[in-house]
Amino acid sequence: MINDLWYKNAIIYSLSVGTYMDANGDGVGDFTGLMRRLDYLHGLGVTAIWLMPFQPSSLRDGGYDITDYYSVDPRYGTLGDFVEFMHGCKQRGIRVLIDLVVNHTSDQHPWFQEARRDSDSPRRDWYVWARRKPPQADAGMVFPGVQKSTWSRDEVAKAWYFHRFYNFQPDLNTANPQVQAEILKIMGFWLQLGVSGFRMDAVPFVIAKKGAEQKRPEEQYDMLRGFREFLQWREGDAIILAEANVLPRTDIQYFGDDGDRLHMMFNFQVNQNLFYTLATADCRPLVKALQDTRELPATAQWGLFLRNHDELDLGRLAAKQRQAVFDAFGPSPDMQLYQRGIRRRLAPMLQGDRRRLELAYSLMMTLPGSPVIRYGDEIGMGDDLRLPERDCARTPMQWSTEPHGGFTKCDNPVLPVISGGPYGFEQVNVAQQRRDPNSQLNWTERIIRMRKEVPEIGWGRFEVLPSGASGVLALRYDWRNNAVLVIHNFAAVPLEVRLDLKSRNKHESNLINLLSENHSYADERRKHHIVLEPYGYRWYRIGGLDYLLKRADS
Ligand code: NOJ
Repeated sequence: MINDLWYKNAIIYSLSVGTYMDANGDGVGDFTGLMRRLDYLHGLGVTAIWLMPFQPSSLRDGGYDITDYYSVDPRYGTLGDFVEFMHGCKQRGIRVLIDLVVNHTSDQHPWFQEARRDSDSPRRDWYVWARRKPPQADAGMVFPGVQKSTWSRDEVAKAWYFHRFYNFQPDLNTANPQVQAEILKIMGFWLQLGVSGFRMDAVPFVIAKKGAEQKRPEEQYDMLRGFREFLQWREGDAIILAEANVLPRTDIQYFGDDGDRLHMMFNFQVNQNLFYTLATADCRPLVKALQDTRELPATAQWGLFLRNHDELDLGRLAAKQRQAVFDAFGPSPDMQLYQRGIRRRLAPMLQGDRRRLELAYSLMMTLPGSPVIRYGDEIGMGDDLRLPERDCARTPMQWSTEPHGGFTKCDNPVLPVISGGPYGFEQVNVAQQRRDPNSQLNWTERIIRMRKEVPEIGWGRFEVLPSGASGVLALRYDWRNNAVLVIHNFAAVPLEVRLDLKSRNKHESNLINLLSENHSYADERRKHHIVLEPYGYRWYRIGGLDYLLKRADS
């Protein structure tokens, strides 16, 4: 049955093992520690965990520089610990997605070492080489300002190799059938250990034709179908969630016209425009992004996120719009990164204003797709701008007021726990927020619980309703004879909206508030007048609470 697809309404929580919980006291988080926090995650209500790379790595890019695809980095534990963790997740009904980083390896990976040493080795063609420096070597960098080129000379190989990312991440030659077979083998390995799928790193680059002769980007979309088929043959309900920051008209190539390619993609278009709207209270670009990304196959889904482990990439906004977001959320140069983004966490960007944080999370929970929460955001963690590049937003989880926020007993944690000031662990931590019914953590738990009872968002078709106020976004979802309405006021002032639900029948004239007692009843012309406080939001059921009795079977 089509409504069995778990990812259509998943609550995904992303974390790095190394910064979550350190059980063995060496300063680095580990699987044993993470396992002890599964009850916390279960209580929060998440239905899936996305683990950042945990395989052996040279750790120069947060683990996205893997040296062995079939193992666990000893700093995090053993393969045995991983299996125990998987069992703990299974017991609690939590699915696990892991990163699949196969655009490139670490330059320390034995495959690259073999390839560079021996031009006759079969591994040589697993990477992308050129005898002379290609003319486009100084173009196409993903990390401008930090990364100098996309081709580097290797003195051992006496040749140039291609690297879309940093120079210690040589690109795999993904057109090579042996490399493709190896990618499937990697997926098969982790599927066998119980994962429910993969967050696939850098998908547009994985499927791009690579080589010195390549002048323009050219994607081989059919590779995606091959990945999906393999996945589904092995494990029917496993998925791929693509990291592909592409233009809306290209999205369908990733999903496939018939939904025969990837299951999920992060919605970068909505993400960037959402931040613009949060900054300016002008909903129009967000509405456009929602409309532009509306059409997707019935079995596909968006991953909706606010912040992730990377910078907030604003590269697809017009220069003026980007500047508006910089001005609002990251005015000083040390808050910005790669000439296009902001590296801060969400809470400091919104100046810790609880009203705006709730607005942002309420949106993430109610825009079309499945929400992807970043660890620590549920308690409003901050950032440490003294740390380089994206590390500032990757500091350890803040569990309590104990030393190092209860993350570790070691005095030399992998990254410093934020201490002092409004976002230090002394002020912002799980233990205190658990005890406070009005804390952000308990609010998050409640909103997740409610989101699970509103499957219309994941399954239904949305409509943007005219609200009469440019700072207010009103979305209606319809699914199986049930309907919900969600309204968000982006403005710092109260606004009154006048809504016509385009109701088809009279019983729809009641709006039952799902989060508080103030319901709305239509006037005699079937219009609703609702006053929203600054940054206010509402979740309503259209009709009454007998909706479940009215829900159709298909
Ligand atoms: C995208 C990941 O999200 C990012 O963290 C990483 O640096 C690059 N891919 C390279 O793997």
